[in-house]
Order: sequence, then structure tokens, then C-alpha cells
Amino acid sequence: MDTFPFVVIEGLDGSGKTTLRKGLFRLFDNLYGVTPLSVLTTNWLDPEVAADLVDGKYAPTEANRDRYLAALRADKQATVERLIAPSLPLRPVIADRWLLSELAFFQVKHGQAPADTYAELAGAIDLVPDLTLILEAATSTSMQRAASRGAGDAVRDDWDVVDVQTSVRATYQAITGNPVAFPKIGPTVRIDAAQPRADVLADAWRALLERGLTPDPEGSIR
Ligand SMILES: Nc1ncnc2c1ncn2[C@@H]1O[C@H](COP(=O)(O)OP(=O)(O)OP(=O)(O)O)[C@@H](O)[C@H]1O
Ligand SMILES: [Mg+2]
Repeated sequence: MDTFPFVVIEGLDGSGKTTLRKGLFRLFDNLYGVTPLSVLTTNWLDPEVAADLVDGKYAPTEANRDRYLAALRADKQATVERLIAPSLPLRPVIADRWLLSELAFFQVKHGQAPADTYAELAGAIDLVPDLTLILEAATSTSMQRAASRGAGDAVRDDWDVVDVQTSVRATYQAITGNPVAFPKIGPTVRIDAAQPRADVLADAWRALLERGLTPDPEGSIR
């Protein structure tokens, strides 16, 4: 490894992505003195496409679908070029959702096959995550958790419902079961998200250790 890792966290709404991201952040920061950069699946770097991102995500229609996909493509490309790639020589990057979530959204909301969405997005993403941690829990567990959060964490009526979350989950499985067709997803590992928070974090850290994705004790890269 000649740079720090690009780690992605995926999982259903409420499965514990933000919680795990914060835990990994503290481990890197406190144990090794390297402060990760956290990015989201959309980072709003291009004002030209901001309106298309909002419309396409919160009011998806057939009419705005292609504009949304083009906007995601522009945002992902800018995120890689301006945030992720420049950071990796200095610090790990942890993304809260990435390509897998976009493929699932287009399948579930638009009936668009992941291979078609992938064909539109992959060309713009010139970087493969070193590891994607997929938080796996029963749909009911993640939905209960999502609903139990305080105000300020949005729960969307057209998204945070059992049948939608169940098909998101099925789409994740179909995509990760066919890695050859989706090379920009990169390696994935499933983490049991029903465990206590500390055990989820320990499993994730172990997965990073096993793949040589943690710094040496002085905080430099291996
Ligand atoms: N392992 C766990 N055990 C019990 N509760 C948890 C666990 N992980 C997270 N939680 C709690 O569940 C709720 C949802 O967690 P979190 O916000 O991390 O999920 P998320 O995947 O980021 O959700 P979203 O996709 O909506 O952003 C929070 O209140 C969090 O404290
Ligand atoms: Mg979150």
C-alpha cells in the first residue's frame, strides 16, 4: 500500500454507517494520529448540478432521472479529483455510501438495471475503494434504528419503508454477488450490524487489518 486506504461504508438506512464511520475516524485519529477525511456519496462540489441532485434524489421522476444520473456523475468525478485522490497520500478517506448505493437507488426507484447505471457512472470514477464494509442487519432492525434517531436525521416516507429497504438489500446482494461485472465497486466484506456498536467496529477494524489497510504504529503508511 503506497497511500492510505479509501474505505466505503454501505448499508441500509439506520444500519449504523454514521456510527461506524465515527468509530473508525477515532481509531485512526487517536491510535495513529492520522485524521481521516469523511466524504458522503454526494458532496455538492459543482453548483451547476446542485438542483438536479436535489430533484433527482427527493422527487425522482422519469423526466429528471437522466439529469440526476449526469449530476451524480459530475459530483462523483469532482469528489474523486478534488477530495479523495489529493487526500490519500496524507490520510485515509472514509465514504458514507458510494457507488453501490447509487446503483441500488436507480434499480429501486427507476427500475433501471445496476449494469446500466454502472455503465453511466463508472467511467467518471477513476478510483476503486480499497474495501467496502457492508453493514448487514435485518430490514426491521435498521428501520427501527433509523426511526429512533433524533430530529434532524431525515426519514423519507418514500424510501424508509420496508418494501423499499428490502429491495435495496436484494440489489446490494445481486451486485456484490457479481463482482466481475462491477469492478469499480472493489472488494467488499459483510459486517453483522446487529451486534453491539463496539463489535461492529472491531469487525470492521479486523477487516482492514487483514488487508493491510491500517497504518503502522508510527502512523505512516506501510
Ligand atoms: N450496533 C448498533 N447497535 C445499536 N444501535 C446502533 C448500532 N449502530 C448504530 N445504532 C444506532 O442506530 C441509529 C442509526 O445509526 P446510524 O445513524 O449510524 O445509521 P446510518 O446507517 O448512518 O443511517 P442513515 O442511512 O439514515 O444515515 C442511531 O441512533 C445509532 O446510535
Ligand atoms: Mg448516516
